[in-house]
Amino acid sequence: MGLFRSSLFRRKDVGRLIAEMNASDRLHRRLGPLALTGLGVGATIGTGLYVQTGIVAREFAGPSIILSFLLAAVGCGFAALCYSELASMVPVAGSAYTYAYATLGELVAWIIGWDLILEYAIGSSVVAAGWSNYFEAFLRNVFSIQLDPRLSSAPWDYNLHDGSFFLKTVTLGGGHEALAWFNLPAVLVTVLVTVVLVKGVRESAGFNAGMVLVNVGVILMIVTIGWSYVDPGNWRPFFHEDKGLRGVAEGAGRIFFAYIGFDSISTHAEEARRPQRDLAIGIMAALAICTILYIATAAVLTGMTPYRAIDPDAPLASALSGRGLAWSGGLVTLGILTGMTSSLLVGNLSQPRILLAMARDGLLPPGVFAAVHPRWRTPWKSTILVGLVVALGAALAPLGFLADLVSIGTLFAFVIVSAAVWILRITNPDLPRPFRAPWVPLVSTMGVLVNGAMMFSLGPENWLRLLIWLILGLAIYFGYGRRRSVLGREAAGALAATAAE
Ligand code: ALA
Repeated sequence: MGLFRSSLFRRKDVGRLIAEMNASDRLHRRLGPLALTGLGVGATIGTGLYVQTGIVAREFAGPSIILSFLLAAVGCGFAALCYSELASMVPVAGSAYTYAYATLGELVAWIIGWDLILEYAIGSSVVAAGWSNYFEAFLRNVFSIQLDPRLSSAPWDYNLHDGSFFLKTVTLGGGHEALAWFNLPAVLVTVLVTVVLVKGVRESAGFNAGMVLVNVGVILMIVTIGWSYVDPGNWRPFFHEDKGLRGVAEGAGRIFFAYIGFDSISTHAEEARRPQRDLAIGIMAALAICTILYIATAAVLTGMTPYRAIDPDAPLASALSGRGLAWSGGLVTLGILTGMTSSLLVGNLSQPRILLAMARDGLLPPGVFAAVHPRWRTPWKSTILVGLVVALGAALAPLGFLADLVSIGTLFAFVIVSAAVWILRITNPDLPRPFRAPWVPLVSTMGVLVNGAMMFSLGPENWLRLLIWLILGLAIYFGYGRRRSVLGREAAGALAATAAE
């Protein structure tokens, strides 16, 4: 127990969190279950569906990607129940970082906060790179404009099967092969989004509703138009010929990326009318809606195109324009670009706010991460820094590599959250739990096992990268945050005062 009492496990008092929240502008409790579900759906649909579906079907699962989507949804479902319990115990606006600080202590909170950088900032790099693929397809299919391929791709590519890197070559107009330089459209869209965010944009329910309508509308359009072009013969064989059943599990780890974001509903706890009940409903409903939409899209895509022939860059645009559907293909691509832009906007909006919370707690330098612009009232320095990291990642690193890193980092956070719920039931049985995950410890154990299995399916090279990321994070914590922590300094001050008496 000594370890748990150590300063590494100092916890932020829930009462204090609520007081801090009251000190700043209190948010209105205006979101019901429908609005919360909409927020979750809007935050979730993006590059995972629009790009990764093609890559995973082609390389790992074939038409059985449908089962991969189901398996990943089951892992997310267990984690979602645990997430809801944790969020209801700490009913303030925040993120998994804040909940962990209140319940599990500083070190675990730091690890989760550090992991959230993968989920949001690096996740945004993946979205920007996916956006670039569809932008290129849009110009090509609708206006017959071909961008210089050296300027629309990272200089490296990544072998998804063995994790190795190699130089990326592209084919120029005259048929010559050349090395790619960097992904210019991804940089430009990130700069645009960063400028908008520095000047200030409010994440409004109206904006989110629009985003959901665009995303869901596009998917329904793809499914409706695509359905009449489905050839059931393309669904046979159902499993990937080189991978068989194993491909379903490997595919689940990879396609998990498409589900990332539904957990962000819990960051709206403070605005929920009845957080105890509605957060759980919103999280589970968003997950169910995304699963149905994903499975329908995957079925249509693999039914329209033999899985080995799916375009790995912009699969849905290519599937439609390949059928001569230039007009509807162009419209769908435009919708996809709009959905991805908002996804980028939300990712780049959330990340600086999590960093702001960490800086206010003293775990990151406040001069950079807590600086609020005097006129625009935005965390401008960290928004620019995040924009820079997102742009660099998207410009220079292969999409598949980044997506795998984001997935393993987020899966790790899900494993911690699932385990934490059970541990807290034992260590703090009396803490009020407005929402209780059912069948704990079964649900917690399944959350750890299924999400852990998806981590395993991502292979040793991704484990190594996660380990390096965590070691880097711990070095920063022990080199900076542990000594500068506001709670730590208060405790040290209280100790000194007691000694002086
Ligand atoms: N789930 C989000 C996406 O697919 C991260 O883009």
